[in-house]
Amino acid sequence: MKALITAGGHGTRLRPITHTQNKHLIPIANKPILNYALEYVREAGIKVVGIITNKDGSEVKDVYGDGKELGLSITYIPQERPSGLADCVRIAQPFIGNDSFVFYLGDNIIVGGIRRFIDEFRANDSNCHLVLAKVPDPERFGVPEIKDNHIVRIEEKPQKPKSDYAVTGIYIYDSSIFEAVNSIKPSARGELEISDAHQYLIEKGLKISYSEITGWWKDTGKPNDLLEANRLVLDNISPNIAGKVDQDSNISGRVIIGAGAEIKNSNVRGPAIIGSGTKIINSYIGPYSSIERDCVIQNSEVEFSIISENCKILNQKIRIEASLLGKDVTIIEANAKPFTNRFIIGDQSIIEIR
Ligand code: DAU
Repeated sequence: MKALITAGGHGTRLRPITHTQNKHLIPIANKPILNYALEYVREAGIKVVGIITNKDGSEVKDVYGDGKELGLSITYIPQERPSGLADCVRIAQPFIGNDSFVFYLGDNIIVGGIRRFIDEFRANDSNCHLVLAKVPDPERFGVPEIKDNHIVRIEEKPQKPKSDYAVTGIYIYDSSIFEAVNSIKPSARGELEISDAHQYLIEKGLKISYSEITGWWKDTGKPNDLLEANRLVLDNISPNIAGKVDQDSNISGRVIIGAGAEIKNSNVRGPAIIGSGTKIINSYIGPYSSIERDCVIQNSEVEFSIISENCKILNQKIRIEASLLGKDVTIIEANAKPFTNRFIIGDQSIIEIR
């Protein structure tokens, strides 16, 4: 069995971060989102992985190379333009050949890995195995209609969902999916929809089985989803303090502090993770914060936030909360007169000031 993981797409809902960075490399608990997918497939015993990238996939390639470091063999499959998930499957046919494969959307994070779904696919001798999750907003997803424990229809982002389930971004196929992706036509939004490929399989009478995720699952399409995924991952970390913590600091709850990090006269309340080389000085870091490597946080308070590498947050009077900072961001106190706020920020940034 092989795996096909997506890391292309527009990432429009995560701008401005995605103006300069592929969304799949945004850190969740200080690891790129894509790492989770790669780890899940490795845990499931799959070694041969294709990654769909944008036309210029160099950013993802630079991070994962040939995959050896992760114990994988990675092939990159560039997509001319993001023209749909079924298109991702279509262009991967030469890589997949006649194997069965896991198709995993690289922006999905789940707990408990994917091995159990592969086992179900095999036990049911299915052509296609889908993973469903109950959600409060099914209209954002592919939605199955289920009758007598069978999926009888699947619609992509329907206005009137036929169930409160989402089809999550974890699919297992045999090679019959290729006939489907080569037969369907683009949707109204111009994409080859994976839901239409599933509907094609249903209409052809092929065997579609499903599992329900009972733990948590997150599609990290929007900033709040990222914060939520970060919260969920941090809830499961094991504490480990490798960096230096001085006597005037207090660390409580599950906290990871990377090697070379320094905590001085500060209060870190877990679950939280502080990357290597980061300095926290006279500050408070609250639950569900991920601070990547080489940041400086001084005389400030941060909680329930993702702070990417090399950021500086200095002398902030109001706590920074529910925030998502890209790399190399600086938030400092304005000292010069007149008494003003000053911004040098990229397109589509969002600033909320009190
Ligand atoms: O997360 C589950 C949902 O994923 C399903 O319920 C939907 O049926 C499915 O269509 C998909 O919906 P999204 O709107 O969330 O898909 P999105 O465009 O965000 O793309 C998902 C992943 O695939 C993400 O890793 C980006 C990547 N991608 C997307 C497209 C359209 C590509 O690599 N190439 C593409 O052409």
